[in-house]
Amino acid sequence: MKSNEKVENNGVSRRQMMIGTGALAAGAAMAHFGGLLKSAEAKDGSTEKWPWPYEKLDPAKTAELAYEEWYRVFCGAAVINSVFSQLREKIGEPYKSFPVDSFVFLEGGMVGWGTMCGSNTGAAMVANLIIGPRIAGAHEGHQISEDMFQWYSEASMPVFVPKTPKVTTELVKTVSDSPLCHVSVGKWMKASGFPIGSPERKDRCARVAASNAYHLVELLNDWKDGKYKPASTHAPVKEFGITAQMNCMECHGNNVPTPPMAKK
Ligand code: HEC
Repeated sequence: MKSNEKVENNGVSRRQMMIGTGALAAGAAMAHFGGLLKSAEAKDGSTEKWPWPYEKLDPAKTAELAYEEWYRVFCGAAVINSVFSQLREKIGEPYKSFPVDSFVFLEGGMVGWGTMCGSNTGAAMVANLIIGPRIAGAHEGHQISEDMFQWYSEASMPVFVPKTPKVTTELVKTVSDSPLCHVSVGKWMKASGFPIGSPERKDRCARVAASNAYHLVELLNDWKDGKYKPASTHAPVKEFGITAQMNCMECHGNNVPTPPMAKK
């Protein structure tokens, strides 16, 4: 036994203690999982239903709606509303009673924290509500989310140009290599020289939301037609033993660490 693996009073080493804590956390995660599954099956008396009905939409029209909505409710809610406002008209419930504007907080990678770009979170929410959660066997909702994040990371953004842009100067396009707001906006600001509060940066993000709405509807339409094929190659847990975005070296440099479990 190594000297730092001090034996505790009850004879359990610190290392074993940590393994124990891990098992506990895993147990808690499983319990959470079970809870979700139960509500997905509505065994608890709730009236939840999956999947939500979908009718094919026009990607360009959806993108225009997202672009306009960005100026009212910002990226995440703009993507959600661009799809759900149309389904409200075409289908009605459950879209009519879905409180769309509650997702304004997705802005700025969630209330300005620069985590996941709201356009990605919004797209994932739409896909999962329409297709259903992975734990209910609806894997396409999960896969479309993955496809959206990877597509976003690799695209020269913004892809979509609205019919009547609010900013008429040509906007620089950048590839984020990441689904994160901070990285995506940061690379664009560096390339363009425009600050966060500029009309150009705002219009860039409105167009990014529109680009995501466009691609999301393309994927949903394919899924509706039974033609959808997952495209994402993102598998960091399998490949590296940790959850991650795939641009490892941008953060870690040449010394990408190996997770503890894989260390010899
Ligand atoms: C957005 C930045 C970012 C990206 C992208 C990223 N990491 Fe990390 N990663 C971190 C930070 C910050 C930590 C905290 C520990 C540290 O400072 O090294 C961390 C921690 C880790 C750890 C655990 C700490 C250790 O030393 O064992 C591993 C393993 C790791 N990253 C591997 C990866 C791999 C593999 C990828 C790509 C698949 C990746 N990371 C992508 C920022 C990032």
